[in-house]
Amino acid sequence: MYVFSKSVFFACFIISGFCYEKFCEKSDRGDTGCDESPKNHFAQDENLKSLDVLVFTVATNETDGFQRYINSARTFGIEPVVLGKGEKWKGGQNIKLYAGGGWKINLLKEALKQYEADDNKIILFTDAYDVIFLGKLSEIINRFKATGAKVLFGAEPYCWPNVDLAKEYPEVEKGQRFLNSGLFIGYLPELYKILNKAELEDNDDDQLYYTLAYLDKEFRDSNKIKLDHTSEIFQNIFGAANDLEIVTINDKDAAAETYLLKNTKTNTQPLVVHGNGFSKLTLNYLSNYLPSGVWNSYEGCVACKHGEINLEKIPRATWPVVHMSLFIEVNTPFIEGFFSKIYQLEYPKERIHLFIHNTMKYHSVHVKNFTEKFGSEYLSLKEIKPEDGSPEWSARDLSLSQCLAKNCDLYFAVDSTAHLDNPFTLKLLIEQNRTVVAPMLVRPGKAWSNFWGALTNDGFYARSNDYMDIAYSNKRGLWNVPFINAAYLVNASLLKTYDSSQITYNLPNVDADMAFCYSLRKLDVFMYVSNRVDFGHLINYETYDITRAEPDMYQIFENEQAWQEAFIHPDYFDNLNPDKKNLQPCPDVYWFPIVSRKFTNALINMMESFGKWSSGNNEDERLEGGYEAVPTRDIHMNQVGWERHWLYFLQKYVRPLQEHVFLGYFHDPPKSLMNFVVRYRPDEQPSLRPHHDSSTYTINIALNEVGKDYEGGGCRFIRYNCSVVDTQIGWMLMHPGRLTHYHEGLLVTKGTRYIMIAFVDP
Ligand SMILES: *[C@@H]1O[C@H](CO)[C@@H](O)[C@H](O)[C@H]1NC(C)=O
Ligand SMILES: *[C@@H]1O[C@H](CO)[C@@H](O)[C@H](O)[C@H]1NC(C)=O
Ligand SMILES: *[C@@H]1O[C@H](CO)[C@@H](O)[C@H](O)[C@H]1NC(C)=O
Ligand SMILES: *[C@@H]1O[C@H](CO)[C@@H](O)[C@H](O)[C@H]1NC(C)=O
Ligand SMILES: *[C@@H]1O[C@H](CO)[C@@H](O)[C@H](O)[C@H]1NC(C)=O
Repeated sequence: MYVFSKSVFFACFIISGFCYEKFCEKSDRGDTGCDESPKNHFAQDENLKSLDVLVFTVATNETDGFQRYINSARTFGIEPVVLGKGEKWKGGQNIKLYAGGGWKINLLKEALKQYEADDNKIILFTDAYDVIFLGKLSEIINRFKATGAKVLFGAEPYCWPNVDLAKEYPEVEKGQRFLNSGLFIGYLPELYKILNKAELEDNDDDQLYYTLAYLDKEFRDSNKIKLDHTSEIFQNIFGAANDLEIVTINDKDAAAETYLLKNTKTNTQPLVVHGNGFSKLTLNYLSNYLPSGVWNSYEGCVACKHGEINLEKIPRATWPVVHMSLFIEVNTPFIEGFFSKIYQLEYPKERIHLFIHNTMKYHSVHVKNFTEKFGSEYLSLKEIKPEDGSPEWSARDLSLSQCLAKNCDLYFAVDSTAHLDNPFTLKLLIEQNRTVVAPMLVRPGKAWSNFWGALTNDGFYARSNDYMDIAYSNKRGLWNVPFINAAYLVNASLLKTYDSSQITYNLPNVDADMAFCYSLRKLDVFMYVSNRVDFGHLINYETYDITRAEPDMYQIFENEQAWQEAFIHPDYFDNLNPDKKNLQPCPDVYWFPIVSRKFTNALINMMESFGKWSSGNNEDERLEGGYEAVPTRDIHMNQVGWERHWLYFLQKYVRPLQEHVFLGYFHDPPKSLMNFVVRYRPDEQPSLRPHHDSSTYTINIALNEVGKDYEGGGCRFIRYNCSVVDTQIGWMLMHPGRLTHYHEGLLVTKGTRYIMIAFVDP
């Protein structure tokens, strides 16, 4: 599996056989092995030209669904005639955006006027926003002809809009019984007759119109009107989702995959699929894989390369203006890391308006630190503080309107729990050029992410079949999903199209994120989540205890990745490099960089905040025997509730170093009963007399700086007459405990010296 690391940002990302082009352009190496342009998966329809067929649809607006429809049509060389484009919808109130309503019929009637009543001309009509093509037009025609119908409508299991008409429908032995008007095909003369059978107003119901024509038995028989009960061609999803299955045909030799939609109940493979009624999300799911060619496991997401923008071809000074809104709605571990990743985003700051909503007093100092230092680099800065008392939804709604007020091109929301480790995140999302797109973020090693693959009927979380594969990045791509949060980019043209009552974070009884996604779903705006590359991760804030001194230090289990990033020395991993010689200041005394300055500062602060340093006497009630032969002024890790964390640190970061230098000694996990921070001061305890440690090996981490924080100090190994006095902050000494390494703590002459000690494997 691909492991994220900062150093490979400039290299090409090759992930499960596909390469992300934008990184290729950034590559130092040039030889990226990338396909410059996506392969043409389009199925050529050789028979297309000879077909006397016209494809019609109605769409007033170029929505995401419309784009998807057109892309799927073009996959098979189909160019539908789009009726009503750019016009105001006249098909009734209820179905605003939908190509429903009598207007559709009137538009079609009008459009067909120009054609002779040619007996051989075939008309295929489909809705647009919730339809995709899965097969060639020639195949659709063949199957249509095989039915013997002159006009064929799709079928569904519900009689709508007038349930009372159900009893008038002929019974069927197999498949669905009732007419759906979203998909149909017919010869021109018979279709004419249907369209001219009665007058209808633009806002009358089109499905009712066709239903009445169909239920007129004499008319039906004379014009050979039939329903596609078994989905030979047309699949309406609503009420039939459980019958549908995506079938994958894998040709390993050709490294190719074909995806088909199968109706397992009727054993057919429909060619046009319609997410009617409440089945739009099912269609969205299917369209992540269909029509065949949009995605496959060899190349990943093929379709996501369509419509991408290349910002590098545009002068930076004219890059889109981003309204970046940061939300701190919970006390969040590693907030400094959050801010530093925001700051490090590769994007001109003079093209970013910054908006910060912070509800947490605890984080006021962190926000202040960030804004005072960097705020002026941004195009503008607006801050809402805890004292303002504005609730999350209202701040989020405000930030949307601020974006518009500042004439933004893009709206980028990021929560404090979202660590955008990949500095190209914002740029890549913009280049993806989708109305709404989120970088996939996951709690490392967990199934907890910032998207949902499916919804329950009442709009809550449900798991899609592919959820785990996506969350663990076994599958990479750009996924149409019903819910996203934590970080996402919105094209501001969407905010300009709708008003603030239509796109809002404020709905009764649901939290702000759910309200927002609900708004988008209602408007049929697609929400994509991308895991084409690794973008970052989510912080777990559930156990965060801000009553502790240095609460981040306690997050080693919940947020291991962020913990390591904050607290492990930047050179730590180089210690294990076999080509590097480890420092050995005295015989069998090894010396390693191990923890960051953040760690050393934090540990000292933890101890000083606790403050109960031991007396330095031999009597020590913290010990089992109550007696310490070589006492120091110290505080044990368990006194500050940090023993478990320390032992984990020992196992994860110290043990590998031990195994690396003291070959052949394995003890996993290492045991250690005595873990403590020692304080040396001239007026307290300035030194420690010679002694053996009761350990297999001892570690000793310098927590502050000689020459600055104190003078003197160090450790002398008597047998070798060898001292380490120039100790380095964040560096650890490791030496055998018994027999050979009799040692003493040298005199501190000024200031305070802190060291962290553990006697490992006593
Ligand atoms: C659709 O397009 C029309 C005309 O361009 C525009 O006035 C309207 O706001 C759009 N409506 C929706 C729902 O996108
Ligand atoms: C970006 O997306 C819009 C809307 O889908 C499309 O019209 C435009 O052509 C795309 N840009 C590029 C460079 O493909
Ligand atoms: C604020 O910034 C200063 C200087 O960069 C740093 O020393 C300090 O630790 C920061 N404080 C907090 C609470 O982050
Ligand atoms: C936003 O969407 C519009 C229309 O789809 C497109 O023309 C434009 O390029 C997009 N803007 C950005 C900054 O991606
Ligand atoms: C120990 O080392 C110091 C300085 O390195 C030296 O002056 C001293 O003579 C040595 N003592 C012994 C006993 O070797």
